[in-house]
This record gives sequence, C-alpha cells and structure tokens, in this order.
Amino acid sequence: MSIALTSPGVFLAFRMTKSTFRAVPPTAIRDNVFKLIDSDWMLITAGTLKGWNTMTASWGGLGILWNKPVAFCFVRPTRHTFGFMEKNDRFTLSFFTERYRAALNLCGTKSGRDTDKARATGLTPVAGRRGFTSFAQARMVLECRKLYFQDLNPKAFLDSAIIKNYPKRDFHRMYIGEITRCLVKKEKESE
Ligand SMILES: Cc1cc2nc3c(=O)[nH]c(=O)nc-3n(C[C@H](O)[C@H](O)[C@H](O)COP(=O)(O)O)c2cc1C
Repeated sequence: MSIALTSPGVFLAFRMTKSTFRAVPPTAIRDNVFKLIDSDWMLITAGTLKGWNTMTASWGGLGILWNKPVAFCFVRPTRHTFGFMEKNDRFTLSFFTERYRAALNLCGTKSGRDTDKARATGLTPVAGRRGFTSFAQARMVLECRKLYFQDLNPKAFLDSAIIKNYPKRDFHRMYIGEITRCLVKKEKESE
C-alpha cells in the first residue's frame, strides 16, 4: 500500500483504512445497484493524495464486460474532475451511508477549482494501493482501472428527449473501469 506522508492526519487516515476496510469479491456486493447509484449517489475520485479531485455522480453502472467486473461512469468535460480522470489511469467510486448526504451534496454542487472539498466536507482522503484515492468515511470503495472511454455522440441518441440533458452540449465522457478491488467497511465500523 502506498502513501504520501504529507501530514499526521494523512498517516492516521492510512492506518484507519488499513484496519477498517476489507477486500471482497464484487459478487459479495449486496446493494441494489439502482438504489446505490441513483439514490445513494457516489463520489468519483481520481488522482493521488498529492493532487486529486472528487465529484458526486448518480449516473453509471456496474456489470460485466470483456469477462471482467466493470464500473462505468459519465463525466462532463466541464467538471474539474474531468482533468483528473484524464491524467490518471485509475479512479475510485466511493459509497456512503445517509449520514454523509450533505457531504455528497457539496461535492456535487461546488467545484474543486475553487473549493477544498476535503476541508468543506470533513471527508478524509486516503491512499489505496497503486495511487488510488478514496475516503476514510466511505462504507464501500470500488478501485477501478480505466479500460475504455468514449464521448457520448448526440447523433447516436435514439430518443430525442435525451438531448435536453445537454443545453450546453457538454456531452459526457463515459469511462469504463475494471473493478480491481472492492473494499467494504467492516460491519461494526459502518456508520
Ligand atoms: C446527485 C448528483 C449527481 C451528479 N451526477 C453527475 C454525473 O453523473 N456526471 C457529471 O458529470 N456530473 C454529475 N453531477 C454534477 C457534479 O457533481 C458537479 O458539477 C460538481 O460540482 C463537479 O465538481 P468538480 O468541478 O470539482 O469536478 C452530479 C451532481 C449531483 C448533486
């Protein structure tokens, strides 16, 4: 497990993560994926502890592609997170209990360009293996290795109503990542 010892707080977070999360196979995920993504929401995070950004997302999915467990998510090029997704070959999806709704609201309404999201939410960024960044408070983290990206092409929208999602024509870039590790918080430590 790699870590940048940038501050005592970071070190503490590292220890907490090491002791409170356990790796499980994706088949052990008990959540209903529709509720998990549409209602609970997730944080998409890319970058290392030296430089990362996160944003809330509620569009995406989990499944199987090329015989691998995958997660896919959609990031508009206007998001600050977009640059981090582009620069890094890994990202994480972090899921939280209801207690962190306000934090996810903030990460979905403020930009990392002008807001320190860790400071504003109290979420603690932690370093996973191989440069993954997630949060100590998450109840589940999916570490993903980018396999594929593609920009949504409006010419391929078969339902004409879809274009209404893009008044600024900032079509999402879809990322498909192989789920290389699924980390869940040990039962008694989930909040
Ligand atoms: C519930 C919710 C879901 C969202 N889902 C997405 C999404 O799937 N894709 C996306 O590009 N933006 C989505 N957003 C918007 C971004 O989270 C938001 O623009 C954020 O401020 C971007 O932060 P950044 O500029 O630091 O990257 C969502 C926002 C909320 C509140």
